[in-house]
Amino acid sequence: MNHQAKGLFITLEGGDGSGKTTVMREMEQVLREQGVEFVTTREPGGIEIAEKIRSIILNPQHTAMDARTEALLYAASRRQHLAEKVEPSLDKGITVLCDRFLDSSLAYQGYARGLGMDEVLEINLFATKGRFPDLTFYLDITPEAGLARIASSQSREVNRLDMESLQFHQKVREGYLLIAEMYPERIRIVDASLSKEQVAAEIRRQLSVTLKDFMI
Ligand code: TYD
Repeated sequence: MNHQAKGLFITLEGGDGSGKTTVMREMEQVLREQGVEFVTTREPGGIEIAEKIRSIILNPQHTAMDARTEALLYAASRRQHLAEKVEPSLDKGITVLCDRFLDSSLAYQGYARGLGMDEVLEINLFATKGRFPDLTFYLDITPEAGLARIASSQSREVNRLDMESLQFHQKVREGYLLIAEMYPERIRIVDASLSKEQVAAEIRRQLSVTLKDFMI
């Protein structure tokens, strides 16, 4: 078992249908092979209180939800998840793999919903007390290809944000690409239109390099 003073905080981002689940499995596999202790979690959710907030946000019947309410609920669920699960794990030296984190709010609420990335960043900095991931993979794919994948996978529930227009999902992608420019050290863009095997190989390569850098 390798030892680190602090766990690594790794997040995974991508538009709907970008293949995050498959990539998460690959990352878990790499960490297991390298003997890194880790937990896998997701946003919004990951712990009871945050899962409850998630069910309010994503309920397809909640069409009346105001954009700022949505942004605040994501931030609230993020705070609870961070305080209750992510930070205690990192402090124990456990690496955390998280499906979505604050970049989702910047892309979806800040950019695509038009609330403004700066304002959404501000409420998120309050929620996270400035905590950023050590490494973020953004799985980049056109919304057309992403949504086609969702349509073909019957196992996945349809949530309120899936029901948004193609134009909304295009804005989400534009937002992510802008965020990746804002944080070039932290965010790696991965071409998610490639085959599953090619995407997995790229993730494996990049994650291995980062692990080497962080290991004592
Ligand atoms: P989920 O079912 O987890 O979708 P996915 O498999 O694509 O991750 O639903 C999460 C939805 O919430 C997804 O549409 C993205 C959206 N979201 C935001 O809009 N802002 C956020 O801060 C987060 C964390 C998620």
